[in-house]
Amino acid sequence: MKHSREAPIGIFDSGIGGLTVAHSIYERFPHENIIYFGDTAHLPYGDKSEAAIQAYSIKIADLLLKKGCKAIVIACNSASSASYELLKEYVRDQAIIINVIDPMIELVASTLNNKKIGLIGTKRTIQSGIYSKKIKLINPELKIQTLATPLLAPMIEEGFYNNQISHEIIANYLSDSSIAAIDALILACTHYPLIKKEINDFYDSKVAILDSAQVVAQALGHQLQKENLLNQSGIANLQFLVSDYTESFEAATQLFFGEKVKLQWHPLWN
Ligand code: DGL
Repeated sequence: MKHSREAPIGIFDSGIGGLTVAHSIYERFPHENIIYFGDTAHLPYGDKSEAAIQAYSIKIADLLLKKGCKAIVIACNSASSASYELLKEYVRDQAIIINVIDPMIELVASTLNNKKIGLIGTKRTIQSGIYSKKIKLINPELKIQTLATPLLAPMIEEGFYNNQISHEIIANYLSDSSIAAIDALILACTHYPLIKKEINDFYDSKVAILDSAQVVAQALGHQLQKENLLNQSGIANLQFLVSDYTESFEAATQLFFGEKVKLQWHPLWN
């Protein structure tokens, strides 16, 4: 890999969800330059076909490679389940490529033996069955009970969290019998950390709520270190690109990164 340490890290999601991952990366590696791409023109990914998400992912990866990214983080479960294998093939040795599923699988396999595990995510992620398949390869004893919760990402994207409507939608989903009596719940969508407190309140803090932001940042750090590409000095340059400008995206971005945000419109197809 012929990048300099100063080369940026590219991070993408359908919208604001991946900012939970981007922020965690920024906190852990404050000198790293970051290019964030929110594919707001195609949001939500969770309801799209695998082929559509693959097409968007390739376009975005292309853009991030053209911008010289040393690493690409697929900060979206729907895209990680639909496009990771394809992107790995496409990107090859041009950049490190990280998805949000594998680091969570490793965490679950090493810490949740004999526990009843639930998982919520988009339709695309749940239909792919990817978490169950990957867990089975590491620990065939571990079973995951899954539930698609398709309203949550668009709800969060619209700024509906910590209010009456979000409480009711969350309670309705989490009362579903398919994820009853669990010890831990995996948030298999990068939007969901924004409603983590509400989920925790629903369970009265009796269920461990796991999101991938920290473990993904950690996994990225290991890879960068291995390739000797960790940037340990200088002031980080943060760039935020969107395929369609929305006010809610700008507001959410500022929520995470404050004044540092310079939002740029960058259509994927001209
Ligand atoms: N944040 C994404 C995920 O982790 C996508 C949500 C969506 O666009 O449906 O799946």
